[in-house]
Amino acid sequence: MKNIYSNIYSFNKRVLKKTLKCLNEGNIASLPTETVYGLAGNAYSKVAISKIFKLKKRPKKNPLIIHYYSIESLDKDAIYNKNFLKLYKKFCPGPITFVLKKKKSSKIKSLATANLNTIAIRFPSHRIIRNILKLSNFPLAMPSANISSGLSPVSAFDVYEEFKRKIKIIINGGKSKIGIESTVVDLTDKPKILRPGIISKNNIKKILNINISKKKTGIKAPGMLKKHYSPGIPVIIGKKPMSQNSAFIIFGRKYKERKNYYNLSKKADLKEAASNLYKIMRKIKRKGYKKIYVDKIPNSGPGVAINDRLLRASK
Ligand code: TXA
Ligand code: MG
Repeated sequence: MKNIYSNIYSFNKRVLKKTLKCLNEGNIASLPTETVYGLAGNAYSKVAISKIFKLKKRPKKNPLIIHYYSIESLDKDAIYNKNFLKLYKKFCPGPITFVLKKKKSSKIKSLATANLNTIAIRFPSHRIIRNILKLSNFPLAMPSANISSGLSPVSAFDVYEEFKRKIKIIINGGKSKIGIESTVVDLTDKPKILRPGIISKNNIKKILNINISKKKTGIKAPGMLKKHYSPGIPVIIGKKPMSQNSAFIIFGRKYKERKNYYNLSKKADLKEAASNLYKIMRKIKRKGYKKIYVDKIPNSGPGVAINDRLLRASK
């Protein structure tokens, strides 16, 4: 029998070579990162970028994050500033994305940055993506590897579930440790969080020694406005389910375990809860539940990012 997962590969030298070739030719590969799995394409190739938008059914006005190996390879594309250098030194490589001014001479395709004069950049820390970035001659445009407005994938099988065999290569790098997308911070002006993540506003504030606003001005992160992170079934926050057809996402030890109860973290650890969020929502969907109810989650540290995703999922 044919192995239906035959586009999922374990990482080794041969697969590294195959992936570099695939990307070089303007094709798309799904790669693991520490946050979520991404759909990677050559940021200098219009063909590759178009394929990403098409695969994801992503609106053209929603710009992509461009991924780099290190700061040295960024010089051609973005204008640095002091805040960026401080945060880079502290958190990179890692789960944080910076919005900077884009250089006019940059070869990053304007389709990738939605014709903006800014560019979102990230230096992921997962060993596999670092290996690939180190050896490729171009940065990688890489959104989360899901159909637009759905849940981000945290395993190679999640990616398969989204795209089946429409992508040639899905590299299996295990479960994404962080499990939710990177923090996006706009540094083009007064620093501002556009998307909360595991690296919190306070973590950033401590390094920069200034107040960080969370105020949303206009459409700074275009993709953040609509319904997002949806598991494909209704999500209801702050209520208990009344029927066995619905699942209940809980946190800590407030409730006794039941068959349709899913605990984000028994020890009430918000970081662990964030890393389980998408995994559990996908599991609930796969089991055929019709609705997801979610208990209240504390709104501090990683809880801010969890509540942000839940709120959008419930829209
Ligand atoms: O953890 C992550 O960031 C993952 C992994 C794969 O790296 N990527 C990811 O990409 O979450 P995506 O495309 O799903 O989300 C990118 C977010 C969107 O909300 C987009 O609007 C915002 O970043 N963004 C991208 N470029 C921007 C820009 N120039 N200005 C403001 N926001 C931008
Ligand atoms: Mg996404």
